[in-house]
Amino acid sequence: MIYSDKVMEHFYSPRNMGVLIDANGIGEAGDPKCGDIMKIYIKVESNIITGVKFKAFGCGSAIASSSIATELIKGKTLEEAWKLTNKSVIEALQGLPVIKEHCSVLAEQTIHNAINNYRKLQKLELWESNLK
Ligand code: FES
Repeated sequence: MIYSDKVMEHFYSPRNMGVLIDANGIGEAGDPKCGDIMKIYIKVESNIITGVKFKAFGCGSAIASSSIATELIKGKTLEEAWKLTNKSVIEALQGLPVIKEHCSVLAEQTIHNAINNYRKLQKLELWESNLK
């Protein structure tokens, strides 16, 4: 098996999947090479991510990455969530095959976009992402 048990578990039973009706930040990112698209909805209250949901049109690793990423940022401050890297996503998934590492980058990117969307709506300064 090239995928860890954790990846399989999150692929078969994704956490926080769906749309968050009262989201106040929405981020989307896509990988032009594989065509996969990820969307993350966040609800921020007093700088804490109190709600999060995702939708992913993509491979199993993209689904597992977004599922675990939602678990990792729930209850975190925006600053903490912003610092979540794809490396931590890979670690939490007990590894991803090298050719699937970009799926975890997509999760990091989507979270950054959701946070900046929230900041934009709140008329706050946008944060600079070093991901392109
Ligand atoms: Fe592209 Fe997974 S293969 S996001």
